[in-house]
Amino acid sequence: MKVSVIGAGNVGATCADAIAFRSIASEVVLLDIRENFAEGKALDMMQTATLNQFNTKIVGSTNDYGKTANSDVVVITSGVPRKPGMTREELIGINAGIVKGVTDNVLKHSPNAVIVIVANPMDTMTYLALKESKLPKNRIIGMGGILDSARFKCYLSMALNASANDIEGMVIGGHGDTTMIPLTRMASYKGVPVSQFLAADALKKVAADTMIGGATLTSMLGTSAWYAPGAAVASLVDSILNDQKRLFPCCVALDGEYGQKDICLGVPVTIGKNGWKKIVDVNLNDDEKAAFAKSADAVRNMNNVLSAAV
Ligand code: APR
Repeated sequence: MKVSVIGAGNVGATCADAIAFRSIASEVVLLDIRENFAEGKALDMMQTATLNQFNTKIVGSTNDYGKTANSDVVVITSGVPRKPGMTREELIGINAGIVKGVTDNVLKHSPNAVIVIVANPMDTMTYLALKESKLPKNRIIGMGGILDSARFKCYLSMALNASANDIEGMVIGGHGDTTMIPLTRMASYKGVPVSQFLAADALKKVAADTMIGGATLTSMLGTSAWYAPGAAVASLVDSILNDQKRLFPCCVALDGEYGQKDICLGVPVTIGKNGWKKIVDVNLNDDEKAAFAKSADAVRNMNNVLSAAV
């Protein structure tokens, strides 16, 4: 199975590394516009093969899409990351142009690939890729919700002083500091609602920390994060390539589900061969429904900015 990762920067390289380290694919192609950059990253990673004991072949490419031909999955990370104080939405102009061009190139060589969008603002970039590619909607998936959910579970585990692996929780809605919706009511510690262990104030703080999880790291690192985004992409790619049918919150095209149409937004969805399969309705309460509608309004406004930006 072959995966191509477009953009060999912090997120793209970490994603390629995680895919190889976990032996998810037989071949990973890393492509970047910077001369020799992807080749260098690929060679460095290949030199970990005997140490980390994987057999995945990792190939670097400077903008040669021929090397990405016949990929089963293509991950688009190419784009500008946030700087401290920036919102993901502020990246729209520059990243929209990049994602548009990259999507066209990718599909010339891998017409059957499932496309995973990581570049921000991710909900709008997913919508752009869907419109630009005219692919069946199931083959376009925005990754953000898996990352946001991993952050949510991390903050919950810290508040509970528990193992993150014993926590379940999802973040739906947009992948923005003000648009994401941590589903606190449904989060559990080994199946027991977390509200039985944490007071309302503590839960509110976990949700608030989750929502600004990316911005917190950007202010610490000077650029946006990469370890958790890379690992989140690897989990998504694993479920696609190995037809695991995992249930992940991902950004997908809605056609009436969750009360929304003509928009890509984060909802729980099963992921397998050929992309996303089924949107799962988790029966939101009135407050959650209102938050989802508000999130959709904000993302729709951003999508409307798109035509002016590209
Ligand atoms: N084609 C291929 N690669 C490109 C293109 C292009 N048209 N334009 C930019 N790139 C490459 C850059 O050369 C750079 O190596 O994309 C890479 C981006 O890497 P970083 O600057 O390290 O950014 P990163 O932190 O990886 O974030 C990438 O993911 O999480 C999101 O908000 C983040 O939108 C950003 C994206």
